[in-house]
Amino acid sequence: MDPEVSTSKTRIAVLGAGSVGSAVALCLILNPVSSEVVLVDPNTAIRDAQVKDLGDATTYHGAVGGGGVRIRGGTHKEAGQCDIVVISAGAKQRHGESRTDLLGRNLAILKSATNDMKPFREDTVILIVANPCDVLTYFAQKYSGLPKGQVIGSGTFLDSARLRGILSEKIAVDASSIDAYVLGEHGESQMVAWSCVTIGAVPLDQCLPPNVTLDRKAIARETKDKAAKIIEAKGATAYGIAALSASICKSILFDQRNVRPISHWVDELGCCLSLPVVLGRRGIVRSLNMPLHQEEKELLLKSASTLKDFIAQAKE
Ligand code: 2OP
Repeated sequence: MDPEVSTSKTRIAVLGAGSVGSAVALCLILNPVSSEVVLVDPNTAIRDAQVKDLGDATTYHGAVGGGGVRIRGGTHKEAGQCDIVVISAGAKQRHGESRTDLLGRNLAILKSATNDMKPFREDTVILIVANPCDVLTYFAQKYSGLPKGQVIGSGTFLDSARLRGILSEKIAVDASSIDAYVLGEHGESQMVAWSCVTIGAVPLDQCLPPNVTLDRKAIARETKDKAAKIIEAKGATAYGIAALSASICKSILFDQRNVRPISHWVDELGCCLSLPVVLGRRGIVRSLNMPLHQEEKELLLKSASTLKDFIAQAKE
């Protein structure tokens, strides 16, 4: 880890001043990661109103190195010169819609936003949060021209957090002590790497409390459907993805080398999807090869093939 990184003037741009983008900005203010947050949205009236509202939240929250986090409105061009660009801009899932149903609408937004940000600073990292996350990550790599390891998606980090939360309730162990990963698509074809779930390095099956049995299929379904349940009741998800995006920004900017399931280009599978990677200042430091069982490998291949179909069908 490079401690110098955190004390210099650092900037994170958030594209999209809607509910997710503004929640990401709030997380970056309450748990300061950079000295400045630049909010970007073609709707400058909304952008500026969000900046004013978020500005009120900065008063009692010091930035790294002292002083408050500065929040301001900015342009796409300025975003391309920031340390990290979080892209939340795009349409949201409606009730009954899948993440991939958003592709047409959000691909056009991504393409024009990426072109407007050029030229990029050579070490900028792009974090795709908008959906369909994995497919948009692939196209952001293509449109930005940045090294692939610097263009990543939040992917199944959120699903893995949800899985850990569910397991935590069932087995009464703190979620941060549970090592459990959802892999593949941040969407319908995702899979749980059950064979690698451990609690304090002990395989899950060997440390279940007496009288506790786990219905793995039901847990995987509950994990996958959590977003849909939230959307059905309140129209959108925002806080979970925002908090985890801010945490990814911290891993990157502070060169923390955290292991996270993040959407990235996987050569052997020919698409972007989530597998555990080490995160550092330039995005992906390296990926980790999980010792998956044969049937899990097959599910992962299936997820990759689903994603490749989406890419092939995308109308650019
Ligand atoms: C989520 O999983 C909708 O992708 C968003 O919360």
